[in-house]
Parts: sequence; C-alpha cells; structure tokens
Amino acid sequence: MNIDFPYFWRLINKQKLSMATTKITVNNNGSLKLEGDFEIVDRNGVPYGLAGREIVSLCRCGNSQNKPFCDGSHKGHFEHDATAFDLPPKKTV
Ligand code: FES
Repeated sequence: MNIDFPYFWRLINKQKLSMATTKITVNNNGSLKLEGDFEIVDRNGVPYGLAGREIVSLCRCGNSQNKPFCDGSHKGHFEHDATAFDLPPKKTV
C-alpha cells in the first residue's frame, strides 16, 4: 500500500485553517460581521449578553443607535470598499 503523506499533510493543514474559531468579514459600506466563537466585552471587560448568537454585526460607521452593534443605519450614509490588502511589516524596536 502506497500512502501519499504530503496529501494527508495538506488535508490536515487545510482542516486546521478552516478551524479558525472566529471569522470577521468587513462588509462593503457597512458593518463588521463576526462569526464563530467570540466574546465581546466593554472597556471594563464586562461581556455583552449575546443570547447565544454565533453571528453578530458590529457598527463601524458610527450611526447605530445600538452601538457597538449595527442596526442598519449605515445604509446610504457610509461608503467603504472592503477590499483586503496587506499591512506594512510590523515595526520592531
Ligand atoms: S455599520 Fe451598520 S449602523 Fe453602523
């Protein structure tokens, strides 16, 4: 029996990548969508009660009446093309 170990390593690594606990999607002209396993805390470290939600949207336009959560007020009042880019290298001392 001939086992293709590189194939299994790729499979395992792919599975590790897909096991990220939190995914944040920057939406065009709107919110940040959080999915997965996360906790949102206030400045004192007190968690917001999410009632078991595994998906929430955070306001990044500043117009929500329910901050930090998005309430849809961004519609027509906030523009941003959410296209990914690479940050410059991290500065070291
Ligand atoms: S991003 Fe939706 S209300 Fe601000």
